[in-house]
Order: sequence, then C-alpha cells, then structure tokens
Amino acid sequence: MHVTEAIQQRRSVKRFTDRPISRAELETLLSAATLAPNHKLTQPWRFYVLGPEARYAYGLALGARKAKKIEDPQAARTMRENVANEHRALPSMIAVAIVTSESPETSEEDYAAVMMGIQNLALAAVEMGLGTHIKTGAVMSDPAARGAAGVREGERIVAVVNVGEPVEMTPAKKREAAEAFTTWVA
Ligand SMILES: Cc1cc2nc3c(=O)[nH]c(=O)nc-3n(C[C@H](O)[C@H](O)[C@H](O)COP(=O)(O)O)c2cc1C
Repeated sequence: MHVTEAIQQRRSVKRFTDRPISRAELETLLSAATLAPNHKLTQPWRFYVLGPEARYAYGLALGARKAKKIEDPQAARTMRENVANEHRALPSMIAVAIVTSESPETSEEDYAAVMMGIQNLALAAVEMGLGTHIKTGAVMSDPAARGAAGVREGERIVAVVNVGEPVEMTPAKKREAAEAFTTWVA
C-alpha cells in the first residue's frame, strides 16, 4: 500500500470486531511510531500497552469523571461500570506518554514528535488492515488513570490509542481543500 492510500483510508475507528490484536502486531505499530522525526533524538515517547484489567481501571477513571455530572447515584454507578466495561472490551489500547521537560522549547518539540509517532502508528495500522482511535482529555492527568496505566513520575499521558480491526469503513469526514489554508509567499 502506498502511504498516500493509507493517509486517505485512515479513519478514527469507533467500532472494532472481536478479533484480538497480537503482541507482534502491536510491536510492529510501536516500532513505526519510534521512526518519527524527533529533534535531538530525545525519543520522548513512552508506550503503555494496557491489558484488559488496566483498560478496565482506565475506563473506571474516565467513567467516574462522567458520573460526577450525573445526580442519580444508580445512573452514576451504571455510567462508571459501562465506560469501564467498554474499555475492557476493546481489542487493545495504548496509553502514549511523553517524558516531561523543564524547557518550553523541548516540551513543544517533544510533544510534536510524539504526535508524529502516533500518526506513523495510525498509518501503519491501516496498512495492516487495522484501525485506530486517538483519544485525549483531562482524564489523562487524573491520578486514577495514570495509576491504571502505571505511568512513571516525570511522564504525562498525551493520548490513548485504541487499536483493532474496524467493523466497517466509514466515509471520510469532509475537509476543506488545502487551498483554503494556504498562502504562497513569493
Ligand atoms: C490529538 C487528538 C485528540 C483527539 N481526541 C479525541 C477524543 O478525545 N475523543 C474522540 O472521540 N476523538 C478524538 N480524536 C479524534 C478526532 O475527533 C478525529 O480525528 C476527527 O473527528 C476527524 O476524524 P477522522 O480521524 O476519522 O478523520 C482526537 C484526535 C486527535 C488528533
């Protein structure tokens, strides 16, 4: 597959089949991520591949945050459990963390590099017949979520990436043509 085809076919995948994703497949994806450009070769990415119980715990942290907005205690419990169970049922999930830096410049460069790594991973997944969904949010710095992933001191989660076999190929979301955002400067 040409890289341009993978770019065109990539989608944020919300529904995965039950096919398990092997360790070898995940290793291939992580290896693609580490080939991303990164200034001064800081290799700022840290990957936490979450098993079912860790996914459940991460989902519980997210569910608890959603449940806070619900008044009815029973409905709040159901929300927590549902989100946790949905996470446990995912084929696979990677929490992507970054090594934090005191330097604003390094922080920005490293964050960019990690996100480029995630895009590498997402495109490699397409080539392998897999799909990804990148997710972020305030939950990433919640101690319960950090604990679920086992993220170390001096690191912060910048995204979680769900990986699995897509149930369907959804149409691409409409984008403006590049022309709308481009200025050609003489
Ligand atoms: C940095 C980043 C964070 C994202 N966070 C979320 C998220 O928290 N929840 C979610 O449903 N999608 C999230 N997405 C996916 C975007 O919503 C998605 O890429 C966008 O709707 C375009 O759809 P596509 O990826 O299928 O082209 C995120 C994407 C990026 C790049």
